[in-house]
Amino acid sequence: MSTIQHLFEKNRQWADRVNKENPTFFKSLSEQQSPKYLWIGCSDSRVPANELLGMQPGEVFVHRNIANQVIHTDLNCLSVIQFAVEVLKVEHIIVCGHYGCGGVMASLDDKSHGLIDNWLHHIEDVYRFHKEAMDKLSDEKERVNLLCELNVIEQVANVCKTTTLQNAWLAKQNVTVHGLVYNLRDGILNDLNVSASSS
Ligand code: CO
Repeated sequence: MSTIQHLFEKNRQWADRVNKENPTFFKSLSEQQSPKYLWIGCSDSRVPANELLGMQPGEVFVHRNIANQVIHTDLNCLSVIQFAVEVLKVEHIIVCGHYGCGGVMASLDDKSHGLIDNWLHHIEDVYRFHKEAMDKLSDEKERVNLLCELNVIEQVANVCKTTTLQNAWLAKQNVTVHGLVYNLRDGILNDLNVSASSS
């Protein structure tokens, strides 16, 4: 059996390092979390929320799934949004996609990928909503990247439509939803300028 012993060693080194830099770090974080941001991103290992935002544990509440989707009936994602907005009172919800997303790419090909096809059908819907703009592009990379952007915009709309956000905005709660796309090639976040709030 192969082991994960090396992970425990890495964890010890990390905890020691953090402790040396800030001896009260773990104690104060263990007592409460008060992140200002909810991140809804792709599970892709190259798009880690905390690292690319330069944020420490405790600063960002994170939900990730394949192709950063917010599905109306996904209790997992909806529960995360509810907890983040109603309990943690985050001020910003960031839906972040990334160019060259494998999930988006897979939704555009005609191959069968098994169970995950059911998840990716939602991105095929996004394609259908924007078929005209998509079909103007012939370059496959450009088509994928446009669909990555359109998918984020669609998921921002889905966040806004949740009962949690509708109720929060009705109560004039200060929470803004943003759509961003991360570029794997240079590590830079691009704002799609689709931010939405109650006022
Ligand atoms: Co992805």
